[in-house]
Amino acid sequence: MRIPFFDFTREASRISSEIEAAFHRVLVSGRYILGQELDSFEKAFAKYCSSRYALGVASGTDALFLALKSLGIGPGDEVITVANTFAATALAILYTGATPVFVDIEKDSFLMDSQRVEDAVTKRTRAIIPVHLYGQCADMDKIRLVASKHGLFVVEDACQAHGALYKARPAGSLGDVAAFSFYPTKNLSCYGDGGMVVTNDKVLYERLFLLRNYGQKDRYHYSVVGYNSRLDEIQAAVLRVKLGYLDRWTEKRLGIARKYDQALGKARRVSPRLDNGSRHAYHLYVAAVGERDNLMSYLRDRGIETMIHYPVPLHRLDPFKNSCVYRDLENTEKRSAEILSLPMNQWLEQDEVEYIADSIRRFYA
Ligand SMILES: Cc1ncc(COP(=O)(O)O)c(C=O)c1O
Repeated sequence: MRIPFFDFTREASRISSEIEAAFHRVLVSGRYILGQELDSFEKAFAKYCSSRYALGVASGTDALFLALKSLGIGPGDEVITVANTFAATALAILYTGATPVFVDIEKDSFLMDSQRVEDAVTKRTRAIIPVHLYGQCADMDKIRLVASKHGLFVVEDACQAHGALYKARPAGSLGDVAAFSFYPTKNLSCYGDGGMVVTNDKVLYERLFLLRNYGQKDRYHYSVVGYNSRLDEIQAAVLRVKLGYLDRWTEKRLGIARKYDQALGKARRVSPRLDNGSRHAYHLYVAAVGERDNLMSYLRDRGIETMIHYPVPLHRLDPFKNSCVYRDLENTEKRSAEILSLPMNQWLEQDEVEYIADSIRRFYA
C-alpha cells in the first residue's frame, strides 16, 4: 500500500459538483472581490466561531499580522508566543516591528505554558499569541488570567484549529481576536491562499475592515495606511460549501485519532489534555515517541508517508535567532526530537487507517 501524507485529488472526486456550482455562481456574478460570497461566508464563519465578526483576508499570516496591527502593536513592543509553531506566527510579529518572545510549552502537552508567559512579561509586553497547535486549544483560561492581570491582548493563532473546542467554546472566540488560515492542507481549506480574522470587538472589526482594503473607508477615500489583503469571491464560495462539511470531517479525524491512539498505546509520551467539553480538531495527529526516526523509516518502508511538525524550533532558525527573545525552552527542544505526524485527513480510507495502525503495532511488538 502507498499512503501519501496528503492527496488533494481525493477531495476533487468527492465534492466536485458542489464546488463547480460554486465556481459557476461566482463566474456569472461578475463580482470577484468583496462581494456576496465573502459576505455570506464571513457571517457563517463568525457564527460557527460563536463570534460577532469575521473578516476574510489573503492568508493566515495576514490574519495574524492585521490582527496585531489592529491592536496598535509595533516597534518597541514585545509579543509572547511559542517557538514550536509554523514560522508565520513569529513572522507576523516581526512584520509589525515588534519583538517575538518565545516561551516554553507545558511538560505534558505541545501547548504554551501560562506560567512561562507570566514569567516573560515585561514593561514592553503588549500581547500574547497562544497557538492552538495541531488543532488543540491552548489552556486559554490560564492564559487569559495572565493577560488580564498585566493588561495584555490575546490573539489566538487558530490557523490549525477550525472546529476545535475549549471547554465547549469554539476556537476563535477565546481571545480578543483570532486568526485562521484556509491554506489547502487545513481542516477548512480553499484552493489557494486564504485567511480570516475573527473578533467580538466592534472597534477592532472596524479597524480591520479598513486595514485589509488599502485603508479605504469609502472608495478612494483613505483614512489609514492599509493593505491589499482580501479573501476573494471564488475562495469564499468554495469555503461556504466546505464549512457545511467541517463537523462531519472533524468527526472522521477523531475516529482516525482513536485508532492511532490505540495502536501507539504506551509508546505515546504526550496525550492531548481533554478538559470537559473540549474537542481536539486533529489538524495533525502528532505523537511524541521514542525511536522516532526508526519508526519513521519503518513506516516509509511500508509505503506510509509521515512528516515532522516542526523539525527545528523557531528560535534556532536564522530569521529569528537575532530578532527574538527566548528563555529556557527545554520542553520545546525535547519534543522537537520526538514528534512524528501520521497521515490525517478526512479522505483516508478505513483500510488505510487499519494498515497504518497495524504497522505501528508491528514496530512496537
Ligand atoms: C500555526 C500557524 N500559524 C500561521 C499559519 C499561516 O497561515 P497561511 O499559510 O495561511 O499564511 C499557519 C499555516 O500555514 C499555521 O499552521
